[in-house]
Amino acid sequence: MFVLNPKTLSASTLIPKSFIIPRKASIPPQFSNFKSRTYCNANQITERGILFDTGDTFFRHESATGRDLGVLSAALYKQSKGQLRVLDAMCGCGVRSLRYLIQSKADFVLANDANESHRRVILDNLGQVGRFEGEQRRWVVTHNEATRVLTDCYLQRDYFDYIDLDSFGSDSSFFLRAAFSSLKLGGLVYVTSTDGFSSGGHRPFHSLEAFGAYVRPMPYANELGLRILIGGAVREASVLGYRVTPLFSYYSCHGPVFRVLLQVHRGKLTEKRDYGFICYCNRCGNSQTVSWGKLGQISCPCNNTIKDPASLVVSGPLWTGPLHSGNYIMEMLNLAEQWGWVGKGAGTGLEKLLERMLEESDPRLPFGYIKLDEVASRAKTNTPSISTITSALHKEGYAASRSHIASSAIKTDCPMAGCIRIAQKLHGC
Ligand SMILES: C[S@@+](CC[C@H](N)C(=O)[O-])C[C@H]1O[C@@H](n2cnc3c(N)ncnc32)[C@H](O)[C@@H]1O
Ligand SMILES: [Zn+2]
Repeated sequence: MFVLNPKTLSASTLIPKSFIIPRKASIPPQFSNFKSRTYCNANQITERGILFDTGDTFFRHESATGRDLGVLSAALYKQSKGQLRVLDAMCGCGVRSLRYLIQSKADFVLANDANESHRRVILDNLGQVGRFEGEQRRWVVTHNEATRVLTDCYLQRDYFDYIDLDSFGSDSSFFLRAAFSSLKLGGLVYVTSTDGFSSGGHRPFHSLEAFGAYVRPMPYANELGLRILIGGAVREASVLGYRVTPLFSYYSCHGPVFRVLLQVHRGKLTEKRDYGFICYCNRCGNSQTVSWGKLGQISCPCNNTIKDPASLVVSGPLWTGPLHSGNYIMEMLNLAEQWGWVGKGAGTGLEKLLERMLEESDPRLPFGYIKLDEVASRAKTNTPSISTITSALHKEGYAASRSHIASSAIKTDCPMAGCIRIAQKLHGC
């Protein structure tokens, strides 16, 4: 299980030349309380004003948004609880650890990467922050296998507020139980999967091993990638008597990468825990959730399944509940605005993402999304624009939003048959 090489991330780890900055970065004033330094190495990068070296480590500029979300959430935790101890279990060059220290104001960071040859670059990067504050250590660098680090912390009753698991493929499921054991109650785990084969339903037995979910190909595969990751965490947490809730879920097409921030509390798994099965009808395009008690009684409103039972595909068990907490996304947006990461002149990427997540947080919206091309092909019309179909759905009293995962799709509580009828009406059919 000990893997140091990416499994499903593409091999292209080269950093675009435009991000190589051979000079000292300007640090925004709110993060200026650290020793900035000048490097004479060609792999210098600046991210949100923090300068660091990537050396020969695995580093992707495209993951910057995932790091922004992590830093914002860790900072919110510090602001609300007054303390923040972070375990960055797969730190690569240490960029997240550095950002947690400087931007989230972590009191302490344990930066770990199994690959010992990364040590020099991690030490150099973290060296921008004093190793001690008074008698207290601010950071430590280790090189152990992640489960060993997490288990050691548990055995020493050395609990963390925030654990970042930035692993490859579906490996995170291997680390989750140890992470929950070494987390404070109410703490946060920021977990990653890059297993696009599983979410696409291309290796159901692998997804069964890794996430405990048998996944079939479905039109909203990239949302399934988030839902099996959360579902796997729900299962692992329940073994320990904990329940987990996603505060946000983020899909990014590079990799692909699925990232989820989980909050962990005491609690039991019940039928109401949003952990079950989902079903898609290839004939009519209808989707539905299926509870454990209703397994074996699945049918589709189109009734075509009597003639063609193979048209119904079922995946699960997985997370069927909300992908984000709307209130939490609002807090992230507010903090991002305070820091100048969104709003005037800040660029639109993060703002657009958080706004879409906020829209997706409408509790009436079910799992999945409906691709407008699929609506058009079933309705035999041109593809309606997102804004036109969304306002038509709103007029009819349905919930509808864009999806941060698929730009030409909508999330709605209107079934496929209703979307087809509305598309036809819009085209005067
Ligand atoms: C995706 S990279 C980390 C990137 C980094 N977090 C960032 O944001 O730039 C994954 C890292 O995990 C390390 N790694 C892989 N398997 C590991 C394991 N089982 N335990 C600890 N580290 C591991 C690799 O050496 C690699 O540096
Ligand atoms: Zn059907």
